[in-house]
Amino acid sequence: MTDQIFYPHKELFPNSPIRNMCEYDELVEKFENDYEGTWEAFAREKIDWYKPFDRVLNEDDAPFYKWFEGGELNVAYQCVGRHLATRKNKAAIIFEGDNGDQRILTYRELYYEVNKMANLFRNQFDIKKGDRVVLYMPMIPEAAIAMLACAKLGAIHSVVFGGFSAEALRDRIIDAEAKLVVTADGAFRKGKPYMLKPIVDKALESGCESVQAVCVVERNGEEIHWEPGRDYSYNELIKNESVQCEPEIVEAEHPLFLLYTSGSTGKPKGVQHSTAGYILWAQMTMEWVFDVQDNDTFWCTADVGWITGHTYIVYGPLAAGATTVMFEGVMTFPDAGRAWKMVEEYQINQFYTAPTAIRLLHKMGQDEPAKYDLSSLRVLGTVGEPIDPPAWKWYYEAVGGSRCSIVDTWWQTETGGHMISPLPAATPVKPACATFPLPGIKAEVINPDGSKPEVGEQGLMCITKPWPSMIRTIWGDPERFKKSYFGDAVKDGKPVYFSGDGAIVDEDGYITITGRTDDVINVSGHRMGTAEVESAIKKHPNVAAVAVVGKPHEIKGEGIFAYVVLKEVPVDKRDETAEDLEMVKEINAIIKQEIGAIAMCDAIAFVPDLPKTRSGKVMRRLLRAIAKGDTITQDTSTLENPAIVGEIEAIVSGG
Ligand code: WTA
Repeated sequence: MTDQIFYPHKELFPNSPIRNMCEYDELVEKFENDYEGTWEAFAREKIDWYKPFDRVLNEDDAPFYKWFEGGELNVAYQCVGRHLATRKNKAAIIFEGDNGDQRILTYRELYYEVNKMANLFRNQFDIKKGDRVVLYMPMIPEAAIAMLACAKLGAIHSVVFGGFSAEALRDRIIDAEAKLVVTADGAFRKGKPYMLKPIVDKALESGCESVQAVCVVERNGEEIHWEPGRDYSYNELIKNESVQCEPEIVEAEHPLFLLYTSGSTGKPKGVQHSTAGYILWAQMTMEWVFDVQDNDTFWCTADVGWITGHTYIVYGPLAAGATTVMFEGVMTFPDAGRAWKMVEEYQINQFYTAPTAIRLLHKMGQDEPAKYDLSSLRVLGTVGEPIDPPAWKWYYEAVGGSRCSIVDTWWQTETGGHMISPLPAATPVKPACATFPLPGIKAEVINPDGSKPEVGEQGLMCITKPWPSMIRTIWGDPERFKKSYFGDAVKDGKPVYFSGDGAIVDEDGYITITGRTDDVINVSGHRMGTAEVESAIKKHPNVAAVAVVGKPHEIKGEGIFAYVVLKEVPVDKRDETAEDLEMVKEINAIIKQEIGAIAMCDAIAFVPDLPKTRSGKVMRRLLRAIAKGDTITQDTSTLENPAIVGEIEAIVSGG
């Protein structure tokens, strides 16, 4: 099955911008021959500049690259305002609530809503260019409206995923020194209300001196606390705002947003994106990878709290003038046919989700897709983690009717948009393979010294030339930016961007991503730093030492597995005792409080010690292998405590 090649059904893509591999090769070559000139042409064609740029790429201060210097623009205009001339009555956002309620905003209505919210931010909360606004929002249109309202004012938003805890939210508010927090009372999930505002209240209890106001969208109508002089009702205040708003025109390199993501060490990093380069690539990949045409309806199931939601629910689709679907609920409620019912009802043409969701929908409702008319679909996308061939096959056959193109898109928070992906009309696809770099993206699998690994050997997934939508820096920590991304690989004497992923190139040049090479776990497509989870677990007073690793998980891709050494060991055999179960509960409660439920452990093994080298380094590779149930073939004699390996194996295997 993996050796099979799937060719696009070309009749589905008569108007694709890249229609075959010849056109792909030509475009790649064009970039090879004139990198800056080709980017320049796209930037001039795609962006509605207020003032054109006069320099394409400035590499003087590498790796702090600058694109399109001298240019001025406004992203709200690029995404909404400029479409009024041709699409004012076209649906911009189709929203479906958890309980099936619907709301459709045309481009004209979206324009007014964005203007009103921008006016509210400006007039009521004194938000100006460069101010940071934290959004802690459910999946409702106001989340997108608030992002665009920030863009309208040149304010920098930082969306924090609604599943993060008060502690995690507080850290992000403090790091960005946010002036305003926009949230909702809560929203609905699986037929029930859930709350966000109480988490904001808790986050603001200490240390968030920069925050001057909280703007609350009322969505679920549940009772909440209103702090006088701090909390304001969006629903009340918005009534007074005008639908006209002067945009703040910004420079090409002005930061559009921050988005915090996990690294292998330390606290989450505030990935900073630019305005022009980011929006250019969001729009171009929308057109190239999803083949979005003017009458199409595009649905990306991500949450706006992740980069996928930023680029492919809000900025990409709207910049391209498309219709984007926003869904508040979960795809398995009220049953595993929910997503397919929506595809049928809205006649979705492109559907974009994560392998975790595909595996879950497959498991819970293998035959559900057949009950609905899915003939509108042309492109099926996946993102966030490697997809396994069985999930790919089900997606292709049961959902795509063996007709749709599957685009396995590899990219990251830091890359802003897709880097490696099939093109739906052009690329012959090997299942579960991201295939080839997009034109303009110099994505290469290399060794740390820049040489190419042998065919079939794993190397580092690098991007060896700067590209417009790349991360500009880590907010407030330029040194960490350099060290995190430009410290591991060098090509032609220059440090190049290393993604943290490993990859393999096969004999036909196809790239397969093998996963993280660092201590980052990918749980359901969400990046978790092992260091973050470990530091949360260490807060338990009875924990002496801890090591967290990823363990393959049937649905989530990877699950979180913790090895914990307790200070006091109440019983000899630490397996399945009541004390252990109590500790598991306590540890997960701490993780939930420090990070959020998404980081809770799937399994915890209480062990007498961790395997360490003589210099005291915990041997994670060994712990990963044990968690997976592999037989240990590594030489353990160099460990400080070799006997521990067998003991841990016995505990984990329940022996
Ligand atoms: C992983 C999500 C395999 C990868 C857009 C990367 C993938 C991390 C794929 C980024 C894919 C993303 N195949 N792995 N198609 N797409 N990844 O920042 O490990 O949340 O480094 O961005 O997800 O996760 P992030």
